[in-house]
Amino acid sequence: MNELKAPAVKVRHVMHYDIDSILSLHKRIGVKQSNIAYMISSGFGGPMDFSFIAEIDRKVVGVVIAHLMYLYIPITELCLINGIMVDPQYQHLHIGSKLVEELIKFCRTQNITTIRALAEDTNTSLNEFVRYHGFHRSKIINWDKVLE
Ligand SMILES: CC(C)(COP(=O)(O)OP(=O)(O)OC[C@H]1O[C@@H](n2cnc3c(N)ncnc32)[C@H](O)[C@@H]1OP(=O)(O)O)[C@@H](O)C(=O)NCCC(=O)NCCS
Repeated sequence: MNELKAPAVKVRHVMHYDIDSILSLHKRIGVKQSNIAYMISSGFGGPMDFSFIAEIDRKVVGVVIAHLMYLYIPITELCLINGIMVDPQYQHLHIGSKLVEELIKFCRTQNITTIRALAEDTNTSLNEFVRYHGFHRSKIINWDKVLE
């Protein structure tokens, strides 16, 4: 989509009826199987939901899935970005940035002062992206235990 210089991007809150479009976008970024359907069907539109969608001509081209969370001891209130994705044909057009900027704006209106993003250390584009938006490495380390 290189010839697309300045697409008219509309960013809005995610609604329940967006689930199919988000699943289709998930396929377009190359993910074949995952539990995203369960994740996105569990609580869109509720008070904890901070997700936003980006559309061009009513086509879904990006989404940030985010939720209000209460984590750790002492319990800390923060907005967790569960995932963010932009259609490969529309990447590098600052659509992901528009989504994050809208999320930041919304967090400010809700007096949420921390946003946490998860990024695999091998995902260079995502790490560059979150750094670009002023995120710094968290003091909290993730530990996974994979059950056999
Ligand atoms: C990460 C992602 C959401 C970024 O969306 P995007 O709309 O293409 O990003 P933007 O155009 O808003 O980029 C903003 C800045 O982030 C950085 N950035 C974005 N993509 C980058 C890349 N591939 N390499 C290096 N830096 C990158 C740049 O600093 C960029 O600023 P610039 O355009 O002025 O150089 C997108 O690449 C994506 O969907 N990736 C695949 C899905 C994924 O891995 N999601 C994360 C797992 S949850």
